[in-house]
Amino acid sequence: MPAPVPAVFPPLPGPAPLSDLQREVLELKRRADAVILAHNYQCEDIQGVADFVGDSLGLAYKAAETTASTIVFCGVHFMAETAKIVNPGKRVLLPDLEAGCSLADSCPADRLAREKAANPGLAVVAYINCSAAVKALSDVICTSGNASRIVERIPADREILFVPDQNLGQWVSQRTGRRMRCWPGSCYAHVQFTPTALLRAKALHPGAPVVAHPECTEAVRALADEVCSTELMVAWAKRQSADTLIVTTESGMIHRLRREVPGKTFVAAPTDRCSCNECRYMKMNTLAKLRDCLASGGPEIHMDETLRARAEVPLRRMLDWSK
Ligand code: 13P
Ligand code: SF4
Repeated sequence: MPAPVPAVFPPLPGPAPLSDLQREVLELKRRADAVILAHNYQCEDIQGVADFVGDSLGLAYKAAETTASTIVFCGVHFMAETAKIVNPGKRVLLPDLEAGCSLADSCPADRLAREKAANPGLAVVAYINCSAAVKALSDVICTSGNASRIVERIPADREILFVPDQNLGQWVSQRTGRRMRCWPGSCYAHVQFTPTALLRAKALHPGAPVVAHPECTEAVRALADEVCSTELMVAWAKRQSADTLIVTTESGMIHRLRREVPGKTFVAAPTDRCSCNECRYMKMNTLAKLRDCLASGGPEIHMDETLRARAEVPLRRMLDWSK
């Protein structure tokens, strides 16, 4: 099989007109007193109707602040759960309830509970990409946007167990100098980026700076000019003088970048198998499912109140610590 050529996204000619389906979604949203929150990895037509598009940290703050009675979360299951944890009285909808996350799945709560029982002194720092049950067992939550700051707040005499992403954990440990035990989980999509594929993109676009998400492996991060969360990629792109930038994360990010950083060409870092790396879970949500979800009021996130209250403590701690 020939090596895939990286997908190239030239500057947008201007704002795209709304489609009939997008207009229908906006009307249903108005009638339902809903807010639409969308992660940076959502497809372009969903980003185009969202009230807020952002990274996990920004979305957690927006979910905590909203006054709407219904939150439609266009992202994956743990993100909608996060919105429910801080909004027990609100209806939280997820267009496709099957939109999970390989990283969240890699850390089952019963295994973490056994690990904690065997090591009672551990401080558990959990990346937000985990289930509500794992959050409930954790001392504090973090996102890729605040992980170093959160880890630095843990007293030096506490041993840290960082769950579930070993790549993010390793990156944070390198940045902060803090030794941590890392859970052996990873994002199936980000680990598909390889040095060989990224070097191919660099050779085709000489001089183009590279940004990579910390969920990528160390070998890929080492080839990047900047490693940061998806939100910080927007600010990074605005600071670049080069016309062409290589983006090493889920390709939905490029829709946000094209809208907010006009005049630049974005190159999606390829993998060894595809020219544009998509998260199959993020892409389970579609504009048609968003419409159906607003029209029917489901699928809805439900959560046991005891679990929710326990998970809220480390989540609120994160929101406090990263203000
Ligand atoms: P951020 O939103 O923190 O950049 O993380 C990306 C991600 O993989 C979410 O699933
Ligand atoms: Fe999970 Fe990776 Fe998809 Fe993010 S990109 S939702 S970490 S599987």
